[in-house]
Amino acid sequence: SKLEMFVDKLPDMPKVQGFDVVGGVPRPKSLNIGMYEIRWKFHRDLPPTPVFAFGTSQTTATVPGPTIEALHGVGTYVTWQNYLPSKHILPWDPTIPTAVPRTRRGIPTVVHLHGGIHEPKSDGHSHSWFTAGFREWGPTWTKKKYHYNNNQHPGNMWYHDHAMGLTRVNLLAGLIGAYVLRHPEVESPLELPASSEFDRPLVVFDRSFCVDGSIYMNSTGNNPSIHPQWQPEYFGDAIIVNGKAWPYMVVRRRKYRFRIINASNARFFKFFFTNGLEIVHVAADSAYLEEPVPANETLVAPSEIVDVVVDFSKSKSDHAILANDAAYPYPSGDPVNEANSKVMKFIIKKDRETDGSRIPEKLIKYPAADLSEASRTRYITMYEYTSDADEPTHLYLNGKPFDDPATETPREGSTEVWNVINLTDDNHPLHIHLGLFKVVDQTELVDLEEFKGCMMKWYDAERCHVGEHARGQKLGVRPHEKGWKNVYKMTPGYVTTIVVRFSYIHSNSPYPFDATAEPGYVYHCHILDHEDNVMMRPLKFIK
Ligand code: C2O
Ligand code: CU
Repeated sequence: SKLEMFVDKLPDMPKVQGFDVVGGVPRPKSLNIGMYEIRWKFHRDLPPTPVFAFGTSQTTATVPGPTIEALHGVGTYVTWQNYLPSKHILPWDPTIPTAVPRTRRGIPTVVHLHGGIHEPKSDGHSHSWFTAGFREWGPTWTKKKYHYNNNQHPGNMWYHDHAMGLTRVNLLAGLIGAYVLRHPEVESPLELPASSEFDRPLVVFDRSFCVDGSIYMNSTGNNPSIHPQWQPEYFGDAIIVNGKAWPYMVVRRRKYRFRIINASNARFFKFFFTNGLEIVHVAADSAYLEEPVPANETLVAPSEIVDVVVDFSKSKSDHAILANDAAYPYPSGDPVNEANSKVMKFIIKKDRETDGSRIPEKLIKYPAADLSEASRTRYITMYEYTSDADEPTHLYLNGKPFDDPATETPREGSTEVWNVINLTDDNHPLHIHLGLFKVVDQTELVDLEEFKGCMMKWYDAERCHVGEHARGQKLGVRPHEKGWKNVYKMTPGYVTTIVVRFSYIHSNSPYPFDATAEPGYVYHCHILDHEDNVMMRPLKFIK
């Protein structure tokens, strides 16, 4: 039976303040946030679904978890606690490189704050996992209490599990939440919609359900004799926003700000409004844009964040459906269907009202990426390997498994040029921990099959004359993607050039921590099914 759309009200996730105020002065705060197995109602007509959820207690845990609100310059400490049962609610696959406790009991988890600039030990390295009660832990686990110094520029982040080989199932189960870092002195003058009524995070993902309400995940791999359960991409037919399938929201006839996080495993969204309402971008991923960018649609890959203002006073109709038109896998998979082409419905009140917020002409200007400062140029290549049946078996970056020694070892504080060569047929959102980058351009590779043949043999872009192949069509960067990003869509058959900065974008101060410390960081494809098998590599810094 089909679930009816737009019958559940859009929830607001609980808010957790990441700082204390003592005598009017903000002070660092320590939080305890647990991961619990609970039951969650995704839809009015669906029985409660077993999920894994973040919360300050089991009874307040939600999917997505609470939104953590942090303050620039004031540290937030979080002890992430694992209260999960001994068995997973979803099928996982021990034949891919996976965290497996010695006792084979307990679910390994480790939390990464996506977009955060903080010490390696608090970054949620995939090998720093732990099970319930910290009974067992992975090879790089060192401490319980993570430190987020919040010294970076204001913006949107999100926290999620990052355990080796389990990220796709742990996020599917619900281990996701938003984290907003505010800097009032810098942001208040912008006069964007600001109160909690008009400034809302929207965490969007796709899921399928069984009739009993449980999450449906295909439990047979596409190459069952190689990987009994692993599938190259998870797609679900129901679109979930803040934990409800196709919710509705009653809005006033005025401006709202939506911080939209794509928390899907593999689904890209191309969002647009069915009544033509404009989407005005003010920030992308964790950073503000220099100026607002209006658009009719916005393409958001897994883990990308678009922060937009929508002015409902411009609506000619009394409702607007936020819709989706991205093929899956993107860009050359199936077109959207009736179910996954709709996201949520806005019901717009009749009366126009006074609106004290505005969309300013200028937002925040950060220094431009300086190509001449780049100390190094690297080539990063995306490969997909297939079985005799021509089914994907695994994906690698630079042809190397995750546990091979680090080859990307930038100097702390440096700027580098990365040329990302995508030899696969799919678009992969590449995410780099710690650094932020600007996209320069994307250049089509000509004589791709020949180049690919050479690369599969030598794994060496220069030896295979990448320069001679990179002379096809150029894709420019969309205006709303010209700011500082931490994840970007790597077009298949193209070389994407980015300038990565391993230092703050808003100041010249060095990091207040040692980025060269163990266990270092990682960079990876943010299609979680790829990341797990194993489109991820270590990122280690040198002095
Ligand atoms: Cu959003 Cu390495 O992760
Ligand atoms: Cu990928």
